[in-house]
Amino acid sequence: MSEQALRLIGVGAAIRAVDLEIDSAARTDAKVLITGESGVGKEVIARLVHQRSRRARAQLVTVNCAAIPDNLLESAIFGHVRGSFTDAHRDRQGLMEVAHGGTIFLDEIGEMSLRMQALLLRFLETGEIQRVGADRVEARVDVRVIAATNRQLLERVASKDFREDLYYRLNVIHIPVPPLRERREDIPAFLDHFLRAYAERYGTAPPTLAPDAFALLVAYDWPGNVRELKNVIERLILRFAGGEIGIADLPPELHRPARVAAPSTSVADALYDRMVTSGQSFWDVVHEPFMARDLTRADLRTILRRGLSQTGGNYKVLVDLFNMPPSDYRRFLGFLRKHGCYMRMPRGVSGDWAR
Ligand SMILES: Nc1ncnc2c1ncn2[C@@H]1O[C@H](COP(=O)(O)OP(=O)(O)OP(=O)(O)O)[C@@H](O)[C@H]1O
Ligand SMILES: [Mg+2]
Repeated sequence: MSEQALRLIGVGAAIRAVDLEIDSAARTDAKVLITGESGVGKEVIARLVHQRSRRARAQLVTVNCAAIPDNLLESAIFGHVRGSFTDAHRDRQGLMEVAHGGTIFLDEIGEMSLRMQALLLRFLETGEIQRVGADRVEARVDVRVIAATNRQLLERVASKDFREDLYYRLNVIHIPVPPLRERREDIPAFLDHFLRAYAERYGTAPPTLAPDAFALLVAYDWPGNVRELKNVIERLILRFAGGEIGIADLPPELHRPARVAAPSTSVADALYDRMVTSGQSFWDVVHEPFMARDLTRADLRTILRRGLSQTGGNYKVLVDLFNMPPSDYRRFLGFLRKHGCYMRMPRGVSGDWAR
C-alpha cells in the first residue's frame, strides 16, 4: 500500500469511467472537483490526478479545510508576515507557495467559511498570494487546484453557504464517485486486494473466504464505503487463525438486515439518483427514455421538482446538477417548454415542495 503502488482498484464501468476522467484531468491544468460520500476514494483520485500529470515531480500539498480552524486557515494557505498576529514570530510561507509548480488538494472544501471562500476566489482569479498582514502581493504562484467534498455542494450553494461563483470556478472537471453499494461489482476486487495486502503486512498467508461469507460481504451496504471495507478486512486478518473465513467470523453489523426497509425507490427517484449521485447526464438518463415513451410526463415532473427544490428553483444550477454543460441551458428549457414541463417554483417554498 505504498505510494508507488497507488492504483485505482475496481473493475466496473463506473470506476473505469473515473479512471478515464483522471487521465484526461491529468493532461491539463484545469481545476477538478471530486465529490462523493465519505470513504469512496476521493483522496486516492486526487493523488492519481497529480501523479499522472506533468506536475508529478513537484509537490502535492493537501489541506484539510475542516481540520484547521478558520482563523488559522488563511495563514496556513497564504502564509503570514512577522507580527501579523501574536504567535507570528517570523515570516512564514503558506501552503500555496509550498505547492508552487505542483498541486494543492483542498479537501473538505464544503466546510470552508464564506470569508475563506472569498479569499480563495480572489487567488483563483489572480494567481497572486497575499500573506496575512502583508500590505502587498507576495508572489504569483503556479499551482493546480483540486478540491473535494462529501457535501452536496449545490445544496450549500442554494442555501447561500457556498458561493456560486466559487463553485463554478472549481467545477471545471467534475469527478463524481459513486458509493460502493452502487458498484458492488468492485467489491470482490477490493476484498482480494485488502486480504492480500494485510496478510502480507501481518505476515500470514492470505486467507480464503467461505462462499456464504463472500456473499454477505458483497451484499452488505457499506455505509462507510471502501474505508469501512478496508477496516473490516484488517480486523479479520488480525484475528485470523488460519484456514477459511466463515460467515460467523464477520462483524455483527454485517449480519444486520440491509437498510432496504426504506420505501422502495420509484422510477423517478432512481433516475434522479443516477444523475445526482452517479453523475450521469439528463440527456441519457431522462430525456432518452422520455422520448422513447418509457417515462411518463408525471415522472419527468417529479424529477424536475426534486431537482428544483435542491437548487432553490434555479434552472441554471439545475442544468449543472443534472450533469449538462452550461451551453445546454437553452436546449434544456426548450425541451421542457415543448412538453409542458417548464414550471416555476412558488416563492418561499422549499424542500417539501418536492413531495
Ligand atoms: N479505488 C480505490 N483503489 C484503492 N484504494 C481505494 C480506492 N478507493 C478507496 N480506497 C482506499 O479507501 C480508503 C478511503 O479512501 P479515501 O481516503 O480516498 O476516501 P475519501 O473519499 O477521501 O473519504 P473522506 O470523505 O472520508 O475523506 C483509503 O485507505 C484508500 O486507500
Ligand atoms: Mg478524504
